[in-house]
Amino acid sequence: MTNALLTVENLSVRFPVKRRWGQTSWLYAVDDVSFEIKRGETLAIVGESGSGKTTAALGVARLVGNSGGFVNLDGEDFLALEGGALRRARAKVQVIFQDPYSSLNPRLRAEAIVREPMDSLGTLPRAERPDRVAELFKQVGLRPEQMKLFPHQFSGGQRQRIGIARALSTNPELIICDEAVSALDVAVQAQILNLLRRLQRDLGLTYLFISHDLGVVQHMSDHIAVMYMGKIVEYADRLSLFNDPRHPYTKALLSAVPSVDKKRKVERMLIPGDPPDPLNPPSGCRFASRCPLVEDACLAAQPPLKAVNGSHRAACIKA
Ligand SMILES: Nc1ncnc2c1ncn2[C@@H]1O[C@H](COP(=O)(O)OP(=O)(O)O)[C@@H](O)[C@H]1O
Ligand SMILES: [Mg+2]
Repeated sequence: MTNALLTVENLSVRFPVKRRWGQTSWLYAVDDVSFEIKRGETLAIVGESGSGKTTAALGVARLVGNSGGFVNLDGEDFLALEGGALRRARAKVQVIFQDPYSSLNPRLRAEAIVREPMDSLGTLPRAERPDRVAELFKQVGLRPEQMKLFPHQFSGGQRQRIGIARALSTNPELIICDEAVSALDVAVQAQILNLLRRLQRDLGLTYLFISHDLGVVQHMSDHIAVMYMGKIVEYADRLSLFNDPRHPYTKALLSAVPSVDKKRKVERMLIPGDPPDPLNPPSGCRFASRCPLVEDACLAAQPPLKAVNGSHRAACIKA
């Protein structure tokens, strides 16, 4: 009984890391993460650098090995698909990365970059692809003559428009934006966010929107999941998360957002220290070493993500 486009259950992704003496340890970059996104909605994932956001995105999109768990995309068991069924499902999920410069092949003209997913997934008869490319250029606000240019001939914002056009080329249901506006200055960020919102409305897209910046996320989310060291530590709808954050980590992240700060008059609270070594995570709460509210019980066991108010969930015994 759900109209979720994407359901992720117990997703874990681990990387083998070589240690001294030839030993291998496993780094759990994503550790038992579950969420769902309803059709046409946006779930934002926020957290500091290294919290596992990109790896979660890659796990959902099946672009990384060593993942476990369950990903249901549009009614199909995505991680189990093979052959033609997998190719058809792949067309439904596209990723836009942070740095369009390094993710766009510098030797290809813009039109070839935008056409590439259609070529590799065969989503449209070859003869129809040029028209589709022209239509996509228009849709993202690029001019027809720009189709012949190379990536270095575009500004950062325009390059991200190429990345968006490429992502749209297979008519996806789900678009994963991984820090898609983080490399852009504020004015250009706003333009790209507006474009993404307009496309969502016009095309009924569903977004998994990843950012380290809660200031960006407040303009771009229905629900928000906060990640810390591979785990979701808080999950809520946008207003609840901004108005009633429960996890000390979320509160600290929020207090670092200038615009939110002014409105809410919260005291600026910087997070002291660094996260623990991800190869050797603590057995209790992973945030305990940096938490202003820490007490003995926090060190004893990992607090589960549990409901604090309706669908609002937090992994903190003091929430
Ligand atoms: N290919 C990899 N091999 C080993 N460790 C990795 C790899 N990619 C990411 N990691 C580690 O996984 C953790 C999460 O990284 P990442 O998903 O990139 O976080 P974020 O996107 O939130 O900055 C980090 O500790 C990072 O060092
Ligand atoms: Mg990342």
